[in-house]
Amino acid sequence: MKSPLVDVDDLAPGENHGKAATALTRYTVEEVTTEAAFDEGLAPLNAQFLATGEIEREDVLRTWLRAGFRTSPATPIAARYHMLLVRDADGTLAAVRDCFTATDPTTGRVVVLLSHSLVLPQHRRTGVGALLRACPVAFARADAKALGVTHPKILLFAEMEPIEPHNRTTVTRVLAYARAGFRAIPPTSLPYAQPDFRDLDALGVGPVPLPFLCLIRQIGEDGRPDAPRATIEALVRHVQAIHLHHCAPGQLATIRDHALGALARDSRDPIPLVRLPVAPSEVSLLEPLMYSRVFALYPSTWIGPLPLGDADLETTLLVANWNPPKERP
Ligand SMILES: CC(C)(COP(=O)(O)OP(=O)(O)OC[C@H]1O[C@@H](n2cnc3c(N)ncnc32)[C@H](O)[C@@H]1OP(=O)(O)O)[C@@H](O)C(=O)NCCC(=O)NCCS
Repeated sequence: MKSPLVDVDDLAPGENHGKAATALTRYTVEEVTTEAAFDEGLAPLNAQFLATGEIEREDVLRTWLRAGFRTSPATPIAARYHMLLVRDADGTLAAVRDCFTATDPTTGRVVVLLSHSLVLPQHRRTGVGALLRACPVAFARADAKALGVTHPKILLFAEMEPIEPHNRTTVTRVLAYARAGFRAIPPTSLPYAQPDFRDLDALGVGPVPLPFLCLIRQIGEDGRPDAPRATIEALVRHVQAIHLHHCAPGQLATIRDHALGALARDSRDPIPLVRLPVAPSEVSLLEPLMYSRVFALYPSTWIGPLPLGDADLETTLLVANWNPPKERP
């Protein structure tokens, strides 16, 4: 089942392809090209992600939408922003996805930064989420083709907050990503952070990067338990080729040096990835991604004043939260 923007065959083997194909008969997908459609998609994204600082400023995204491909003399990588809307049969908005592609025409590599995906609550678990997960591959192929790349090497990249034992929303995200073929780069190998997107000049403050987990899917290599170091290094380069258009170079250098410094100290090649749980019974797999274990890898100025807890205890609580004891008959 195909639309020009979503090919269900691009989904990972573990996804429910039948459910996604059925969703494609009920829902319609459209790429945002007008300001009105952009406003419609941005409103629910802001409602969901603005409070936690996880979304770029509106003026920044609007500039991206209008610009098409953007390049910089600093790198051959061409970056582009996309937003997709999913509508129910009556035209109401059911879901929104936005993402950036970053294509290096000299290597044929495309990294897709999966910025935000949101399925509105009444449309959850309908297969719409899978449509949001398939469309970035179509965007990557289209952008690669436009830049003269015929056989792109596509990497999907999602940033996610570390796992807290009581935060069910985060674990739900992980379960969905796991079914979608994603694995995590060990934070010990790549302690990555998202730039601080606030208008720092207007606020008169310095940047506070957001420590994030890196989840990746290597298209065409589903099930691969590891990733070449070159892929992980390229990931950082490509993502920063996007951020350099709207973040100060100093902040990007600090984030890059912190992440790639740790990678340089890990001599393995390829780097084994963390398998994610596909069911609540497997949540103990998240142990290397627990909040206190991950935040310990960052400068104290990035993680705030809260003291770190005991990561082993956090894992125990997480497992108990998702696997409550069965009631006695
Ligand atoms: C994350 C989100 C996009 C997932 O969409 P969804 O429609 O809720 O869920 P999906 O259909 O994609 O779920 C895929 C699989 O993940 C697992 N899963 C999802 N939600 C689950 C839950 N609450 N409990 C257990 N498993 C769950 C299931 O295996 C599911 O497959 P199934 O429905 O065929 O059993 C949606 O919940 C959402 O918009 N959340 C708020 C915003 C957000 O967190 N966005 C993601 C980060 S940018």
